[in-house]
This record gives sequence, C-alpha cells and structure tokens, in this order.
Amino acid sequence: MHFAILTLFPEMFAPLQGSILKRAQNTDLISIRLVNFRDYALSKHNNVDDLPYGGGAGMVLKPEPIYAAVRDLPETVGSRKVILTTPQGRVFSQSLAEEWSKYTELVLICGHYEGFDERIRDLADEEVSLGDFVLTGGELAAMVIVDAVSRLIPGVLGEAASAQEDSHSDGLLEYPQYTRPPEFEGKQVPEILISGHHAKINRWRRKEALRRTFLRRPDLIPGIKLEPGDYFLLEELAEENLSIAVWREKWQYLRPIPNKRR
Ligand code: ADE
Repeated sequence: MHFAILTLFPEMFAPLQGSILKRAQNTDLISIRLVNFRDYALSKHNNVDDLPYGGGAGMVLKPEPIYAAVRDLPETVGSRKVILTTPQGRVFSQSLAEEWSKYTELVLICGHYEGFDERIRDLADEEVSLGDFVLTGGELAAMVIVDAVSRLIPGVLGEAASAQEDSHSDGLLEYPQYTRPPEFEGKQVPEILISGHHAKINRWRRKEALRRTFLRRPDLIPGIKLEPGDYFLLEELAEENLSIAVWREKWQYLRPIPNKRR
C-alpha cells in the first residue's frame, strides 16, 4: 500500500516513523510519500492561500498548488483513491479502513487554516472526517487514517489473527483481556479463562463482547454481524442484565436461525 500525503506541514508526520509503521515501511509493506504542496505554489512568494471572495475572516487555501501536486504524483500501477480530510466529510470508521486497505494507493489531502477553495473538493473521490469536532488541520486525521489502514495490510501486524479480533472488526467491541497474576488486589481473573476449555472460552468471549457493545455502544447494535449461536447468548445476557433486556425487542429483527447452541 502506498500513501501520498499532501500537506503544508510534512514535519508533523514524525509519528509515522515509529513502531509498527516504521517496520512496515522498512519491510516495504507500506510506503509514505510526503508532498509539501507549497512547492507547487505559483507566486514568487510561495503563497498557498488568499483572502476569501465576499470577505470574512481568515485565509482560504488556493486550488492551483493542490491540483498541481496531485497531477505531479507518479502514476499508480493499480487503484488509487483521493481522500480529502475535512470535518464536513463522512465519518471515518473501521469499515472504511477495511475498504480502503484494498487500494494500491491512497492520496490524502490535508486541509488547513480556516478553509479551502471549494473547487479542491472536485479532486477528491471521498471526503472524510474523524468525528464531530474541529482540528487545526487535516494532518492528524491523515495520520489516523494511515495507521488504521496500514494495520489491516497483511503482514503489518505480527500475528495474522490479531486484526480480526479487534474491537469493531465484526461490529462488536472487543471482549475483556487478562494476563497474570490470576488475582490482583482482590480482583480475580474469570475462572473460565484459566480452565483451558477453548470452546467455553470462545463462548465467554463472544458473550462479553456482546455485553460490552450493548452496554457501552448501543448505537452499534444495528451493525453487529450476529452468528447463529448469539441468540442464546443474548437471551442469557437479557436475563442477567436489565439494561440489556431493554434491547430485546430491537434484536428481534436481527434474530438468526437458532440452529446451533454455542
Ligand atoms: N480537519 C479539521 N477537522 C477535521 C476533522 N474533524 N476530521 C478530519 N479533518 C479535519
């Protein structure tokens, strides 16, 4: 996967040179090209922004340097997606990260200052936001996208299974994890995890992932990819917990064919 990041602040991208992303670049699983679009400014003063037509506070990014920088990118052998980071975009999510991880190249255009010329939007296949808050610029958003997409590229994470078991990968939050010691300050590790009984452990993990999601993020419920045995787990959860019981009606329409007991 190749990333090209168009920014006025390439020095902000130092975090991409550490840890897992550093290893991924060293092993050529990913590459990150930083392009300072100030290098494509037309004026002798290297201006990349100008006053807004119609008046108002602040400066607006000019279209020409960004168009020129995108047009000057080396040809991609494969598929390319151009993404503009802006608080007005579609909210970034794990499923978008998964979709984008299939491309050969992602081009990320970072907006900055108070805004950008509306015609810059035409360069982008997608506009994406990190959430309903405003950052000083798109750089942090671009770094988050590079990180979330890169870890889905086969080989970037050490263990193949670890990306699949994450929170959000099947629409659920991740189950609770424990390590030694079995008791810490009176807090016990659930006995089932120490039992060595793998089928029971998997059932417990699935149930706790469902519990977490229902209690912490009920907004995720419609997107959960339920498995046949989940129906029984959900019934058990509803009996154990009143606030989950409230959701009983809502999961009726998600109800799978109960053909298998977990
Ligand atoms: N630029 C400024 N705020 C942003 C946000 N919330 N998401 C993406 N890019 C941004």
